[in-house]
Amino acid sequence: MKEKDRRNLRELWRQADASRRLHVGDEVHLRGLTEISNHCVRQCGYCGLRAGNSYIERYRMNKTEIMECAGECVRREYGTIVLQAGEDYGIKTPALSNLIQRIKAETPLAVTLSMGERPLADLSEWRNAGADRYLLRFETSDRHLYELIHPAYKGRKSDRIVTLRVLKSLGYEIGGGVMVGIPGQTYESLARDIEIFRELDLDMIGIGPYLPHPQTPLGRGEWKRNISEAEQAPNDEETTLKMFALSRIACPEANIPATTALATLNPQSGIEAGLMRGANVLMPDLTPQRFRNNYQIYPDRQAIHDSHDLSLRRRLENIDRRPGVGPGGRFDRLSEIIAL
Ligand code: 5AD
Repeated sequence: MKEKDRRNLRELWRQADASRRLHVGDEVHLRGLTEISNHCVRQCGYCGLRAGNSYIERYRMNKTEIMECAGECVRREYGTIVLQAGEDYGIKTPALSNLIQRIKAETPLAVTLSMGERPLADLSEWRNAGADRYLLRFETSDRHLYELIHPAYKGRKSDRIVTLRVLKSLGYEIGGGVMVGIPGQTYESLARDIEIFRELDLDMIGIGPYLPHPQTPLGRGEWKRNISEAEQAPNDEETTLKMFALSRIACPEANIPATTALATLNPQSGIEAGLMRGANVLMPDLTPQRFRNNYQIYPDRQAIHDSHDLSLRRRLENIDRRPGVGPGGRFDRLSEIIAL
C-alpha cells in the first residue's frame, strides 16, 4: 500500500488489468442507481445524510417515481437497478417487498438493495420478494475506527462484517467495501480490508476515497483519533487505485465498480482510471435531478451521468471496453460460460 516506485506501480496496474480481463472480461456492466430516500436514522460521522444534518431537504420517492426509474433502466438496456437509501424506516418492509416483486415481474432487471443495517426479518423478506443482491460497505475493518465513526443505533451493536455473512446465507450476492483515507485509518488496516474482502468471498467490492463533508463531525475534524502521520492512509486517487488493483488481484471474480467518489475526485478521467486498474462496473445515476441534489453523501458529488449516457458509452469504447449485456451478476457469468 505504501509503494511509490513508478515502475512497480505500473506492474501492479498491469497485473490488475490482466486479471480483470481474464476473469471478468471486457464488458462493463451498467447498474442504474436510484436513490429512493435520503432519510436516515444513523449518525455516521462521515456521511452527509446523517440524521443530525439539518441542512439537507429530506425526500422519499413514491412507488410510481421508482417504477419510472426502473422503466428508464430498461430503456437504457442496463441489466440491474440498484435501490439505495439512508437507513430509513419510513421505507416500510412490505412496501419495498411489493416494489421488488413488481420490478421482477414487469422487467428483466436484477434488483440490488442498499438500505443500510435493517433487521434480519426485513433482509430476509426482501430476499424472498426477489431481491438479488445487497450492498453494505463495512467502511473499515479497523474495529476502533469503525466504532468511532459509526455510532450504534438504539444500543444495537453493529457489525457489518457479520451482517454480510448473514446476507450471503440468505442467498444474496453480497457487496461490501470501504472508504480510503478516513482520518485515523492506517495503511495496514487497508491491507487487512482486502484480506476481509477475500475471506467474505465478496461478489461486489465498492471502494471510494473518503471525501470530507463540512456538515459532519469527521469532516469538521471534531471526532479525532490520534495516529502518526506516517501511518495515515491518504484519501487520494493513487491510494484508491492501489486498493482497486489489489482487490482485483485478491478477488479476481468480483464485480468492482468505478465509483462515484472516484469520479468526484477526478471528474475528467477517474472512471477510466478505475476501469483500467481492476474495475468492471459503472453505476450511472438514474435518480431524478430534483431528488439527486439532496443526496449529498459528500460535497460536489459528481453523479456518473444519465444525460451523458451516450458519451459514457463512447468513453468505454475509447478504452476498448463495451457495455455488458444481461444482469452481470457474478454467477450469471459462470452460467453463460457453461451455456456455451
Ligand atoms: N466520503 C466518501 N464516501 C462516503 N460515503 C459516505 N460518506 C462518505 C464520504 N464523506 C460512502 C460510504 C457508504 C456509501 C453509500 O457512501 O462508504 O457506504
